[in-house]
Formats: sequence, structure tokens, C-alpha cells
Amino acid sequence: MTVLRTSNLTKHYGKVKALNGVDIEVRKGEVFGFIGPNGAGKSTTLRILLGILKATKGDAQIFGKDVWHDAVELHKRIAYVPGDVNLWPNLTGGEVIDLFVKMRGGSRTKKREELIHKFQFDPSKKCRSYSKGNRQKVALIAAFSSDADLYILDEPTSGLDPLMERVFQECVMEVKQEGKSVLLSSHILSEVERLCDRVAIIREGKIIETGSLAEMRHLTRTTLNVETKEPMPDLTGHDGVHNVEEKEGAYVFQVDSEKLDEVIAYISSFGVVKIESAPPTLEDLFMRHYEGTGAGGVV
Ligand SMILES: Nc1ncnc2c1ncn2[C@@H]1O[C@H](COP(=O)(O)OP(=O)(O)OP(=O)(O)O)[C@@H](O)[C@H]1O
Ligand SMILES: [Mg+2]
Repeated sequence: MTVLRTSNLTKHYGKVKALNGVDIEVRKGEVFGFIGPNGAGKSTTLRILLGILKATKGDAQIFGKDVWHDAVELHKRIAYVPGDVNLWPNLTGGEVIDLFVKMRGGSRTKKREELIHKFQFDPSKKCRSYSKGNRQKVALIAAFSSDADLYILDEPTSGLDPLMERVFQECVMEVKQEGKSVLLSSHILSEVERLCDRVAIIREGKIIETGSLAEMRHLTRTTLNVETKEPMPDLTGHDGVHNVEEKEGAYVFQVDSEKLDEVIAYISSFGVVKIESAPPTLEDLFMRHYEGTGAGGVV
């Protein structure tokens, strides 16, 4: 079942073409990862979905309703964590959490106290004194204390330390288990890999890749580290083999996943002494999309 769908979503800021026809679909009960380099259009997409920005062209629906016209109604079922969390400076963290949760109508019982404890958050201080990470905690605690059907999270962990990052991941798993849906934009590819069922990669306002991680891995390369009894002089020229490095009789190279079978058969004819393989990572895949684009590995 689809909970969120955009089609041909387009946003121009004057001459800046931030979105050029974005199509994404989030299904019920899934965690959907939204990744792309700085300025790719992630926040713009999410802000249109929340009815904060109006699209120039195209269509976006959540729970079958239009995100712009039905924004007020939709907000009761959506929890949002913005990339830049701005809070009321004179209210305490605890007051802001309560305000956010009330605005969404309906809280998950006892969640507020549990999350304050898990995130090691002091809710009694005035918001003006919180650090970036602590402001993010306010938004996260409010979001996960809310009884929402869809959680829209814009780089929610950029200011969190590794321990808190783990608490965040547990929160996402928990709402997923309750059958809720999550749209998560992130720069942290290991986080996306761990949490997301499906992923879309956006670049210059266009989706360039979308699918399950398993489907995407199919397009990627596995790294092999092999030692053979006899040298393999023609390895570099073999179909599907890339980046061969030879060191003291060991070969380290990458193989296209669909050629793995053939390549293993080939190297076994040289008498394999040792073989180690490292699975393809989302990072490899992501980087390959940016090879030669001048993006310089900025994720
Ligand atoms: N208010 C605005 N006026 C003009 N251009 C804007 C405005 N907001 C965003 N842009 C431009 O739109 C494009 C997409 O920006 P957006 O914030 O959606 O990127 P992002 O993927 O969220 O990036 P980041 O990873 O840095 O958060 C960028 O080129 C940005 O400069
Ligand atoms: Mg952003």
C-alpha cells in the first residue's frame, strides 16, 4: 500500500531549478531512504511534502490527499524533524516537546519520559541554551512521542554522537515494527544501509536510482582479495574485473556482481590459496554515481 507518492514534482526558485521532476513512492510499513549530495533537493522535496513550500509543477499526495490543499489535516498524521531545528528560545525543552506533541494530536503513551531518558536529555533548560545536538533531540523526542502514521525526518542525526545515533536507530525500528512508515533523508550511508528497506538517490533535482538495497547491490561490485599458487597475468583484462592491485603475490580487485561466478571460476584455475571477499556497500554505489561528475566525494 502506498502512503506517499510524488509525480513529476518540480520546484524552481527563480532561475534555480531545485527539483526537476521527482518521482518517489513510500509504502506502508517501510523505511525509505532519501540520499544525495548537498544541494541535491532533499530538503526542498520534504518541505513540499509538508506543505511548507508550494511546488512549481507536479503532484504530491500523502494518504491519498494533496500535500498542499490538505496540509492541516495531514499534519495530524505526520511527525516531522527538520534539518535545522529552530525552537522558541524562552520555552524549556520539555515545554516545546509537549507543544509539538499536542499540535499533532495524540501521543504514544509513556513514550515522552522513556525517550527523554534514552536520549539523556535535560528538558528543564531554556531552549536558547541547547546545543545543536540537543535541539535535534527536542525534535526527535517530540516526533517519536507522537502517534503518527508517517515520520518525515530530514537528516535527523547530523548533530548526534554515536551513542545517540544508536538510540535514534532503535526509535526508527520500533515505529517500523508498529507498521508506521518513515521517510529518512540522510548523509550517513551506514545508517541508511542499516535502517532502510528501499532507497532513492537524488542528484540535481532528479532521482537517478531507486529500489531496494538488494536490487541496488546487484549493480555494485564485490571486492576480492585472492592469493593463488600461480600468477594471474591476464586478470586485469578479464571481463567484469576492475582496479586490480597486486602485492606480494596477492591480488586485490573488484568484480561486477553479475560476473562473480565467471571470475571465481577463472581464478580457481590458478590454484587458490586464500580468498576473502568484502560485500558491496551503499557507499561504493553512491560514489560510483559521482565518479567523474566533479562532486569530489561530497556526500
Ligand atoms: N529559498 C531558496 N532560494 C533559492 N534557492 C534555494 C532556496 N532553497 C534551496 N535552494 C536551492 O535549491 C537546491 C536544493 O536545495 P535543498 O536544500 O533541497 O538541498 P538538500 O539536498 O537538502 O541539501 P543538503 O544536503 O545540503 O541539506 C540548492 O541548489 C539550493 O541552493
Ligand atoms: Mg537539506
